[in-house]
Amino acid sequence: MLSLKDELLIHGIDDMLANDAKKVKHTILIVDDEIHNQSLLKRTLRGNYYILTASNGLEGLEVLEEYSDHISLIISDHKMPVMEGTEFLEKANQISPSAIKILLTGYSDIEILTHAVNRCGLFQYILKPFEPEELIKVVRDGIEKFDLINSKATILTDLKELFYKTIKSISSALDSKDPYTHGHSLRVTLYALILASTLGLSDKELEDIETAGLLHDIGKIGIPQSILCKQGKLTDEEFEVMKAHPENAEKLIANIKNLKGISNWLKCHHERWDGAGYPAGLKGEEIPLSARIIAIADTYDAMTTTRSYRTALSHQTAIDEIRACAGTQFDPELAKKFIELEQTIEDAKTNPEEYYSKYSYLQKEINSYILTPV
Ligand SMILES: [Fe+2]
Repeated sequence: MLSLKDELLIHGIDDMLANDAKKVKHTILIVDDEIHNQSLLKRTLRGNYYILTASNGLEGLEVLEEYSDHISLIISDHKMPVMEGTEFLEKANQISPSAIKILLTGYSDIEILTHAVNRCGLFQYILKPFEPEELIKVVRDGIEKFDLINSKATILTDLKELFYKTIKSISSALDSKDPYTHGHSLRVTLYALILASTLGLSDKELEDIETAGLLHDIGKIGIPQSILCKQGKLTDEEFEVMKAHPENAEKLIANIKNLKGISNWLKCHHERWDGAGYPAGLKGEEIPLSARIIAIADTYDAMTTTRSYRTALSHQTAIDEIRACAGTQFDPELAKKFIELEQTIEDAKTNPEEYYSKYSYLQKEINSYILTPV
């Protein structure tokens, strides 16, 4: 009997991994306690695939732990000592959700088989005894499905990455219009995420808050540089132009399908809890939660960075100001939470890039995207 090590020596692990990277040849893991069956399966399949073998479920799991990234398909016998095939495949599904699973079984009871299919995320079962041609066909179909899922997942990850990078570039291009607001959108998003991550929101809601934070000032794109970067106080007319940016933002992104949901949040980020904000004068919980979160983060960053019209205030002064404006400018509950988080906020302020990668949900989703069969 050839162990995993023997197999890797025969084929050469480098060869297998290199070929795997080029997707020239797929690797199949066969788990069967009967040597005769194992040999038959190997003989049938080794012309087209790399084969790894294990004699029981435990051994199979060990192989998966080490090589799951390279294994496209798993074939397991049903009745085995140590661990039944269904139990093994169920555990294998946790380690390698993207690998296609096939069960070889002597049971023809439909109830047992349906249960097994549901439990293990089976692609298909093959009743024993079987003809080699039948096995070859099922394996070929399984590998085709694996490739299809793989390519779909790659496209999806690429699209998400493109979306995230585009949003980030737009926001940093925007911030660079004014040397005083360099990094503003990123820091506002970071503070908003620190606050939002304590509110028990879903990953999707946090992702949307991140997108909204990065784009909250996108409506400033149409504001003349002379107003954006003016040294000193804006005139009433200039302030009116500036005040149009939340509505400009809404108009800019309302027709983009993926961003439609957040367009209203951008419109509302200068509303105030007491109704004295703009553009609509919304009050209290009429203002979307995300806009209330961004309003606090935005004000904190505006206060703690040097602007063309004044130098930066200290962290403590900004926190005192947020406390003083809780219930008038800001949602009192959110302001209270923000103040409770002040140490994290202050730490994040000193190293926003590093903290951002810790709190970013868009980045996390790209990095941890796992393939799951559809
Ligand atoms: Fe703004």
